[in-house]
Amino acid sequence: MSQTTNPPNQRLAVLTSGGDAPGMNAAVRAATLVATAAGWEVYGVRHGYQGLIADELEPLGPRDVQRIVREGGTMLGSARCKAFHEQATRDRARAVLAARGISGLVVIGGNGSLAGALALSDPDEAGEHAPRVVGIPASIDNDLALTSLSIGADTAMNTIVEACDKIADTASAHDRTFLVEVMGRECGYLAMTSAVAAGADLVLFPEAERSDEELVADVVRAVAAVRKRAVRDRRVIAITAEGVRLPTTELKRRVDEELARRGDPEHPVETRVTVLGHVVRGGRPSAFDRLLGSRLANVAVRALIAGRTRVMVAWLPPSELPAEIATRSADDPYCFVVDLPAVLRATEQLLDGEGELAQWRKAVFNQLETVLTL
Ligand code: F6P
Repeated sequence: MSQTTNPPNQRLAVLTSGGDAPGMNAAVRAATLVATAAGWEVYGVRHGYQGLIADELEPLGPRDVQRIVREGGTMLGSARCKAFHEQATRDRARAVLAARGISGLVVIGGNGSLAGALALSDPDEAGEHAPRVVGIPASIDNDLALTSLSIGADTAMNTIVEACDKIADTASAHDRTFLVEVMGRECGYLAMTSAVAAGADLVLFPEAERSDEELVADVVRAVAAVRKRAVRDRRVIAITAEGVRLPTTELKRRVDEELARRGDPEHPVETRVTVLGHVVRGGRPSAFDRLLGSRLANVAVRALIAGRTRVMVAWLPPSELPAEIATRSADDPYCFVVDLPAVLRATEQLLDGEGELAQWRKAVFNQLETVLTL
């Protein structure tokens, strides 16, 4: 545990809130290391805002976070706190922070958690003593705007793909159709990306706004298409997002009905439902989520120390490629089409240790040396 005696304004707290997401621990660890290296005292809040109002805070030092980067879930615990919608609850939370001399809070969570952070730091509500807050996007749903990714989405996608690979084996063996329901709340991101990566035959997601009849027709059409083109492997994997209004079991019932009505009695189509549920939220974070959590937390703590508040640290691809050499793809806003000679020139610079990227990498290595040996 940390034994420092910094002045009160050099104390920050870290909390994880809402649905846990793999990679949250990496963010807690990096926040603790970076803040400690900067001479700040760090507190971990247990169980999100719920624990904050109950004053469940404990000092966090490098030793406490040494081994957590590989772990799923969150070492701090998490909770959904409905009471935080009320000002009286937020007043209580601000009082807890003030009593402990904590001036800044790093909030690691999704939409609801970041909305809570904004309310907590509202100067109209809290006056000049409002705590500073910096948010870190963390949610397997990847449903936050202005960041291309939130912590946990990559691991969740990998978990779904792994599950679908396994389901595909048994589906192929039996020529079955599987409806695989995945988490994501109202957002189809996980369903869509996993469908592409798992080689699914169909994906159903809420953003498509299909009627129940259209959803049934989509599955039946996919089954017919696979049966028509495949002589041997006639399995069908359809990934459905949990946000799709028609419950998956009801979808199955209606698909079965429709297939039976049109079907070949000698070769009936067997359908099964697998709801992956909370399996999607658990497990060891992917290397990418560990890195994402660490990098976002590094920037978040530095922003907080620099006096920023009411901001979120976002993960976005660098987008400053000059127009003479690069155009953003109209098909995919995350992709650029870049002039090849320019790529090779810049690569040469990179390999020679020159250029902006190479300089930036060197600077990061130096920062890392300080922090990793704490
Ligand atoms: O937001 C993450 C998430 O896992 C959603 O995908 C899902 O709808 C929800 O949380 C489930 O919440 P709970 O764990 O509270 O049932």
